[in-house]
Amino acid sequence: MAPATLLALAALLAPGLGAATRGCDPPAHLWCSSPEIAVACQAERRCANLSRPAAAPVELSLFYESLCPACRWFLVQQLFTAWLLLPAEALSVTLVPYGNAAERNVSGKWEFECQHGPEECLGNMLEACLMHEAKNFSTYFPVIFCLESGSSVTKNLEACLQVYAPQLDGGRIAACARGDAGAALMHRNAQLTEALDPPHEYVPWIVVNGKHTDELQEQAEASLLGLICSLYQGEKPKACGGSGAAKAPAGCRR
Ligand SMILES: *[C@@H]1O[C@H](CO)[C@@H](O)[C@H](O)[C@H]1NC(C)=O
Ligand SMILES: *[C@@H]1O[C@H](CO)[C@@H](O)[C@H](O)[C@H]1NC(C)=O
Ligand SMILES: *[C@@H]1O[C@H](CO)[C@@H](O)[C@H](O)[C@H]1NC(C)=O
Repeated sequence: MAPATLLALAALLAPGLGAATRGCDPPAHLWCSSPEIAVACQAERRCANLSRPAAAPVELSLFYESLCPACRWFLVQQLFTAWLLLPAEALSVTLVPYGNAAERNVSGKWEFECQHGPEECLGNMLEACLMHEAKNFSTYFPVIFCLESGSSVTKNLEACLQVYAPQLDGGRIAACARGDAGAALMHRNAQLTEALDPPHEYVPWIVVNGKHTDELQEQAEASLLGLICSLYQGEKPKACGGSGAAKAPAGCRR
C-alpha cells in the first residue's frame, strides 16, 4: 500500500485524530514521554499512570523491645518524626516488639522472659495487642509513640488511647495482653526476630528494604529522614528539602 493510502485510511478510522494532533508533533507512542507532550497531544488522562509509575515505598522494619532506652530514642526521635514528615507512599513501617527476649514452651503455653524484666514483656505485649486491635498503622503508631515517649510504657495505655485513638477499647487490648491471643502474637514476633539474617546482635535492629548492614543502621540512627529521602525512588517529598539531611546542631555551651 502507498503511504498516501495509509494516511487516508488512518484519517478514516480515527476521525478525532486531526484535532488531537494540532501542536502535537511526536508520534502516538511518545505521547506519554513527558507531561508537556501529553498536554499538547491531549493525552493527559490516558498518560496519568504511564508517565509516572508508582515508586515503591521504602520498607523499614524495626526490631525492638519496649524498655530499651536506645529503642525508645530511635522510635520517638527518628521514626516518629520521619513518619510525620513523609507522605505514606514514601515509607512503610513494620514494628516487631520482642528484641532480646526469650521464649519457652511450658506445658503447651509460650512464656517469655525479657531483657528488662516482666514490665518489658508487658510493654511488648501491649504494643503487639494494640497493633492487632487497631490494624491501621496511622492509628496505632501515635499511641506507641505516646507510650514510648512517656514516663511509663505500661501505665499510660488509657491516657494515650484517649488522646490518639479514643475509638479503641483499652480493655480489649489489656485482655489480649494477658491472654492466649497476646502469647500467640508474641510467639509470632519471636519467630520473626529469630528469622533475621544476619541474626540481630542488639536492639534497635533496623532492616531497610529487607536488608541490615552496619552502614544502614548508622545512617538510620543519624538521620532516618535523610536515609529514606535518599532511598525513595519517587518524586522527592517536600520534607526531603534540597540539601539532604540536616546535621545535628552543636550543643549549647554555658
Ligand atoms: C493504567 O490505569 C488503567 C485503569 O486504571 C489500567 O487498566 C492500566 O492497566 C494502567 N496501566 C498501567 C501501565 O499501569
Ligand atoms: C509445647 O509443649 C507441649 C507439651 O508440653 C507439646 O505438646 C507441644 O507440641 C509443644 N509445642 C511446640 C510448638 O513445641
Ligand atoms: C488508616 O487511617 C488513615 C487515617 O485515619 C486513613 O487515611 C487510611 O485510609 C487508613 N488506612 C486503611 C488501610 O484503612
